[in-house]
Amino acid sequence: MTEKLVRPAITRLKPYIPGKPIEEVKRELGLDDVIKLASNENPLGPSPRAVQAMRKCLKDVRLYPDNECYHLKRKLAQRLGFPPEQVLVGRGSDEIIHMIGLAFLEKGDEVLIPSHPFVLYEFTGTLMDAELVRVPLREYRYDLEAMAERIGPRTKLAFIGNPNNPTGTIITHDELVRFLDRLGDQGIVVLDEAYYEYAEDAAYPRSLELVKEGRNVIVLRTFSKIYALAGLRIGYGVARPELAAALAKVREPFNVSTVAQAAALASLEDGFQVERSLKINRRGKKYLYRELKRLKLKYVPTEANFIFVDCGRDALEVARELLRRGVIVRADPAFGYPTHFRVTVGKPAQNRRFIAALKEVLA
Ligand SMILES: Cc1ncc(COP(=O)(O)O)c(C=O)c1O
Repeated sequence: MTEKLVRPAITRLKPYIPGKPIEEVKRELGLDDVIKLASNENPLGPSPRAVQAMRKCLKDVRLYPDNECYHLKRKLAQRLGFPPEQVLVGRGSDEIIHMIGLAFLEKGDEVLIPSHPFVLYEFTGTLMDAELVRVPLREYRYDLEAMAERIGPRTKLAFIGNPNNPTGTIITHDELVRFLDRLGDQGIVVLDEAYYEYAEDAAYPRSLELVKEGRNVIVLRTFSKIYALAGLRIGYGVARPELAAALAKVREPFNVSTVAQAAALASLEDGFQVERSLKINRRGKKYLYRELKRLKLKYVPTEANFIFVDCGRDALEVARELLRRGVIVRADPAFGYPTHFRVTVGKPAQNRRFIAALKEVLA
């Protein structure tokens, strides 16, 4: 009976299974020292300025937040070089991905995604009753040539994670431009740049230029990663005026909390914290590459704050064994690589602990 009430698209949705929180692992395994290197969170934590700004506005939470994110939007607009109307703030970039679905997808539209995409791309397409067109990665990278081959009359959206989660690889500016030329005006590319601050490759796309040129590109970024505000849920997007206006229409009122707005604004003023985070990441990457090589494990060189490791055996089993030693990494059948897990680059002591546990597990 109930089945008849539920939209068919909803019955096709798969529940999201997040990584286990530290507290749960401690409780279940009776451990008191657990580290989480599973969700690409910044081990340094938020800027002290952000923490102070949050404290200061706690007394204001009696009131609804600023619906327009006035100050934050202006600050972002100024930094990015756009008018505020082209900037969109959401409850994490996840919410903006959801809004993109609401604003642009109809039943029958096609959405280009990788065969094992970041979960929200799939979720949003399915929720809106669109058809998902899956294109396999090639050597861990988006294969934009193959994706372009799959463009058809009904193609409406293409989701590109750049750097890609979970592989940490990037597409280049030139590859992206060629793909956009092939797509033309009929569709929109969602360029998910959640980890863009970490990318060091000079060929990384100049995505804001593409927005300025008036291309059909929506650039998404977040405060969850380098700014270490994942628990607050706040991200932003930039698009040409017409696309931004459509997205603004589907935005829920008061979608971003007062505390999140204050923390994000203060974070933008702390360049030092970003620098420190990048330094820790660079150092951690170097250490982990070296140790993984010593363990004779293959890994994918990363442009983000996580590494995709091929452990050469059932990764779920390896992750379970690491968990028993108090180290949470992410292995997931949805990655599409059964012998790979993803590990977030931590602080030096965390990285050492992960490597020591991994050595034990592989021995
Ligand atoms: C590729 C990618 N996009 C988007 C997000 C979501 O970020 P947010 O916390 O801003 O919703 C994540 C989070 O892990 C991600 O890995």
